[in-house]
Amino acid sequence: MAWPFPRIFAHRGGGVLAPENTMAGLAAGVAHGHNAVEFDVMLSADDVPVLMHDASFGRTVAGRGNIALLPASALVKLDAGAWFDAAFEGETIPTLADALAYCRAQGVFMNIEIKPAPGRDKRTGEVVAAAARDFLKTLAGGRGGILLSSFSAVALGAARVVAPDVPRGYLLHRLKAGWGARLHELECVALHCNHELVDAPLMEAARSREVGVFCYTVNSLKRARELKAFGVDALCTDRIDLIRSDFFAERNS
Ligand code: G3P
Ligand code: MG
Repeated sequence: MAWPFPRIFAHRGGGVLAPENTMAGLAAGVAHGHNAVEFDVMLSADDVPVLMHDASFGRTVAGRGNIALLPASALVKLDAGAWFDAAFEGETIPTLADALAYCRAQGVFMNIEIKPAPGRDKRTGEVVAAAARDFLKTLAGGRGGILLSSFSAVALGAARVVAPDVPRGYLLHRLKAGWGARLHELECVALHCNHELVDAPLMEAARSREVGVFCYTVNSLKRARELKAFGVDALCTDRIDLIRSDFFAERNS
């Protein structure tokens, strides 16, 4: 396929430069010249999509227990920045609506990773896809856009039912038997894979299914160049300072 999306995505917003999945993270990506961003979205207990990677408190947000057991009204008050650096104390958990509004204003393209809390795959896929569909309806020719992705085939299947026209990528950390058929069933436009999986047979398999290849998470220029030589279409990076938005366009990159 001719890849119709941006090629470099700032991973979790600000990569290594700002706390992940926060508004400060999104702003860091933009400040470093990125026009495309990846972030993770989970549902609160009351089905509000929020930016969050982990199912449990303890790493980016202090506390113990399951994040998805709290309502959004409680989650949005919690600090998601202090763990990263004291300078980011006070950064809270954004809602998906916050991120959509920011990306609309900045013209930033989003790879929204649907990251369901355990047992919430279907509902998370439905809610995130509906939000993406509604956003795209009102974008109408504006800059930016959305590519959904998920490791959860259930979430992607639910997204396909709710919003068949919002493009989807199937995330794979390890190659599972039947991945190509699954990608086809889910009508995905891209394989989103761990970059370590890339080799000539994988590229050939993706090409034969007419899907793109998006790699995560590529943090060295040397590896990014190798992937480019393999014909990878896009990648996300934490090193938003090193791998710039025009990486694929540069002749000697
Ligand atoms: O979407 C690509 C990448 O973000 C997947 O892994 O754990 O960083 O969400 P993770
Ligand atoms: Mg992610």
